[in-house]
This record gives sequence, structure tokens and C-alpha cells, in this order.
Amino acid sequence: MADLSWENIEQQITNCRRCRLYQQRNHIVLGEGNRSADIMLIGEGPGADEDAIGRPFVGKAGHLLDKMFSAIDIKREELYITNVVKCRPPGNRTPLDEEAEACLPILRMQYALIIPKIVVCLGATATRYVYDRDARITRVRGQWLDKNGTLFMPTYHPAALLRDESKKKDAWQDMQSIAKTYAVLRQEK
Ligand code: URA
Repeated sequence: MADLSWENIEQQITNCRRCRLYQQRNHIVLGEGNRSADIMLIGEGPGADEDAIGRPFVGKAGHLLDKMFSAIDIKREELYITNVVKCRPPGNRTPLDEEAEACLPILRMQYALIIPKIVVCLGATATRYVYDRDARITRVRGQWLDKNGTLFMPTYHPAALLRDESKKKDAWQDMQSIAKTYAVLRQEK
């Protein structure tokens, strides 16, 4: 990986045209938060609100995400939050494979700089590109996967919880599992 730095990431994404999503974007949403975070959250891609202001998870799904983490006593400032694709797919459609592939090198650089202990994959897209290409979110959610000492947890996307309340019980279980693992990691520090 050539020149692993946040400055290099900034340079690479400025005026990025690696896929067609640049055509309709207003802002590139790189991600934000604690660059030394133990927990990295990965969503799918910016929605309308995020595209309008350039920050991740600031709309309805973001509010729910904030509530979920505050319920387990983890503040947004403790997290690093980003997405698989950094530009909004029109109409909030799922990113195309070629769009995700074009953007993944940026996510890999973010991951390599943060070196998180826990990665939470929010929803099917993050789970597919980060956890396991063949995974189905309904089957794997809640299951920790240890990849070279980093723990990966797939769980439902908060937008899915807003659409289908019946998923909230499982999501709450996942949050408690994340809280427990995070507490253990902090004790080990
Ligand atoms: N949904 C996502 O996947 N990411 C965001 O940043 C906002 C909504």
C-alpha cells in the first residue's frame, strides 16, 4: 500500500471519478470520528442528508444509530463511522458491484490507519464487502468473526430497523454483544 496516510486519502478522493457516482454527488462523504477508535462502523453509502452536508449517518438512520450506541453507553466520539461507498447512489439504491470495488481501496486505507479492534458492518452491503462476500445478513448477524485479531460483527442497518420494527430485538442483542466485547477489550488495555 503506497503512502498510507490521511493526506493521501484526501488527495485520492478529491475530485474522484473512479466510478459514475461522482456525476450526481454534492459531497464526498469520507467518514468521520475518532481516528484512533477501537470501534469502526461501516454503512452502505451516503443518503440525501449525508450527501447534502458531507457527513455520514446524519439523517433518520443516523439518529437511530446514535440512540443505539448511547443505549450501550458508547459515545459517537468514541467511534469512527464510514461507508462502503463515499458518494450517494442515486435514489439510495444499493451500490453496484463496480462502484463498491472502485471505492474499497479507500475503505481499506481507512481501516489500515485506524486499526480498529471491532468492526461493525451495518447491513447487507457492508457485510458483503467487509465480512464475507457470500454472507446473508439474516443468517450471519450477531456472529463475531475474528480476522487476524480484529473482530467483525454484522448487524442490521438502522434504516432496516426503521422499516421493520420486528428486527429491533435481534439488533438489541447485537448491541449488547458489542458492548460486552468492547468492555472486555478496554479492561485488557
Ligand atoms: N445510510 C448509510 O448506509 N450510510 C450513511 O451514511 C447514511 C445512511
